[in-house]
Parts: sequence; structure tokens; C-alpha cells
Amino acid sequence: MMNLFDLTGKTAVITGGTGVLGGAMAKGLAQAGATVAILGRREALAVQVSDSLKNEGLKAIPLPADVLDKASLLKAREHLLKQTGRIDILINAAGGNMPEATVFGELTFFGLEPEALNKVMRLNFEGSVLPAQVFGESMKDAGSGSIINISSMAAQKPLTRVIGYAAAKAAIDNFTKWLAVDLAQKYGEGLRVNAIAPGFFVGEQNRSFLLNTDGSLTTRGGQIIANTPMGRFGEPDELVGTAVYLASDAAKFVTGIVIPVDGGFSAYGGL
Ligand SMILES: NC(=O)c1ccc[n+]([C@@H]2O[C@H](COP(=O)([O-])OP(=O)(O)OC[C@H]3O[C@@H](n4cnc5c(N)ncnc54)[C@H](O)[C@@H]3O)[C@@H](O)[C@H]2O)c1
Repeated sequence: MMNLFDLTGKTAVITGGTGVLGGAMAKGLAQAGATVAILGRREALAVQVSDSLKNEGLKAIPLPADVLDKASLLKAREHLLKQTGRIDILINAAGGNMPEATVFGELTFFGLEPEALNKVMRLNFEGSVLPAQVFGESMKDAGSGSIINISSMAAQKPLTRVIGYAAAKAAIDNFTKWLAVDLAQKYGEGLRVNAIAPGFFVGEQNRSFLLNTDGSLTTRGGQIIANTPMGRFGEPDELVGTAVYLASDAAKFVTGIVIPVDGGFSAYGGL
């Protein structure tokens, strides 16, 4: 039974593998047997993350590249294929919100700069489309592969303030379904595309929005916890089970879905 989830012999690319959630999923996939390529813009950090996995006896390769620069992704693909000969899994975990696209404090909707919206849309949407093109092409050539996008609670029910991020993650949900259909119809059932929609996890980007310096909840952090039936933030390694499931043969007949991992946030109506 557990063989269904076995990733031995598979190669996984994790964009944003240098970050909090990407790093946790990279480790989880490596523990399930995959060789994980840690893709990040900063080479030193990618090396550091991959070295720490290797020190634990796991298989990891640093893969410096920028998800918004197709040439750097193509170079990364070439480098990786030389080492592993295959690419089976892609997790698009590079992304996040940007303060300049957030309606907060002095900044109202009417003062939002289009450039700020474009920037957050570009990182989250184009930053997932380009890796799907580059690494997905190798999967297409091999006739099998699993792409996992990272959505957000902001995609289905827009959250206050984060207008650009919410729109970008809604685009990710739509893209996940679109690409799932396109790849299955044109290239066969071996190619699957799904997404994970994390609830609220404390990361570097959002720490100051959720927690005060003394560790107590901010007003917004308190609102989130009040709307999360399990009453807490998620732990990054709680995404691993879903990531391994979607990456593995356990999800062989599953494509085009978005799975919330959110402590019940998306199920709760607030009363
Ligand atoms: N933390 C949460 O609560 C939460 C909730 C829902 C969704 N998400 C999503 O999960 C994903 C990971 O979030 P996180 O909290 O781990 O953030 P993080 O900031 O810890 O990780 C993001 C990583 O992406 C990298 N990155 C950014 N731009 C890049 C680029 N152009 N090229 C290559 N790498 C780039 C960063 O260097 C960083 O290592 C994001 O898409 C985020 O929107 C996070």
C-alpha cells in the first residue's frame, strides 16, 4: 500500500525550495525517495538548503534560477537533466504577496499603482507558468509527470487588503484546471496538474502581519485564528502529505483539483 506514495527514482523541481513552505515540501518529497532540485534565485541559499538535506542522507541538487527568467530556467533544466536524466515532479512554490499591492494604511484602492498589481501577478502567475512550460516540456517528452501549483485561501474567497495577490492566486486555480485539461487531452493521462491551497502558515513574508514581536497575535492574526476551526496556524510540514500524494501514483487518476490544507478555514462561514 505504501508503495503508492513511493517517489524513489523520481526527480522533483521545487521552485522557491529555499523558502519556508517550498523547503518543507522539498524535504518531504526527498524523504519519500525523490531527488529534489532546490530552485531559487540566490545560489548560496539554494546550496545551503540542498546541503542541509544531503547532510540528512537525502538526495538534493541546488538549482539557481529565476522563475521569471525563461533563459535561466532552460539553463537549469539542461543542468538538471545532465545530472538526473529525468524530471517527474514540479512544485511551483516561489511566490507571495507584495506590500505595494496591498490596500492598507494610507494606500486605498484608488491610489493603487498598476505596476504594483502587475508585479505581484507576474511573480505568482507568470512565475508558475514559465516553470510549467520549461520543466513540463520534459514531462511531455517522457509522457509522464506531476505539476503542483501553490494557491492560497485568497483565491476562492478574496481576503481584505491583498487585492493583487488574491487575483494572482485565483489565476493559479484557473490555470491549474486549464493546464490539467490541455495536457491530459493532448499528451495523455501520464501528465497531471493539481494545486495545494495552504491556509495560514507563519513564514518570513507574513510573520509581521500575523505575530507581534513578543509572539502574541496581531489583530489580523487573531482574525485568522478566529476563522480557522482548528484554532492555530499550520506547520509547514503539514503540507508534505498532500504534496507527496499529488506527486505520486496514489493520485494517478487525479488531475485539475485544488486541495485546501487549512485547518478548516475554507469550510467555515464565520458563525
Ligand atoms: N505562508 C503562508 O501562509 C502561505 C499561505 C498560502 C500560500 N502561500 C504561498 O506559498 C508559496 C511559498 O510561500 P512561503 O510562505 O514559503 O514564502 P517564502 O518567502 O518563504 O518562500 C518563497 C520563496 O520563493 C523564492 N522566490 C521569490 N521570487 C523568486 C523568483 N523570481 N525566482 C525564484 N525564486 C523566487 C524566494 O526567494 C523564497 O525562497 C507562495 O506562493 C505563497 O504565496 C503561503
